[in-house]
Amino acid sequence: MKFLVINGPNLNRLGLREPAIYGSKTLTDLEKDLFAFCETEMIEVTCFQSNHEGDIIDSIHEAEHQFDGIVLNPGAFTHYSYAIRDAIASITLPVVEVHISNVHAREEFRHTSVTAPVTIGQIIGLGFKGYELAMLALKERLGGKQK
Ligand code: DQA
Repeated sequence: MKFLVINGPNLNRLGLREPAIYGSKTLTDLEKDLFAFCETEMIEVTCFQSNHEGDIIDSIHEAEHQFDGIVLNPGAFTHYSYAIRDAIASITLPVVEVHISNVHAREEFRHTSVTAPVTIGQIIGLGFKGYELAMLALKERLGGKQK
């Protein structure tokens, strides 16, 4: 199975950014952990990070022909990007939304996700582990179907 992991804006700042909320590990640490996890799970993984809405949209469109599923942390775009929501709705791949922090225990504006309704589900507040759990959920959802 081939999965694409997309991390949105400011997630390249992991390790430096609000460590009390996001921890002290970096995006490179996260991606290393994911590559190791995917090797044991027989998953082929590609990781992509962008601070730009249009690039995230392009990567969602292009994923349709290359991957079996997407793990997406849209960062703050979660809360207001109808364009990313429409991009997810425009493809047939299953998408799982991940948030490292427990957005429901934070500011009110983080309680809304405009993207979640077009995903198969969300994993929230479980730190980096959430990405692995999202991949297991995608694997189960896809069963034998893969590219
Ligand atoms: C986040 C939560 C968002 O509210 C925030 O804007 C982020 C990270 C998370 O992973 O907890 O950038 O998506």
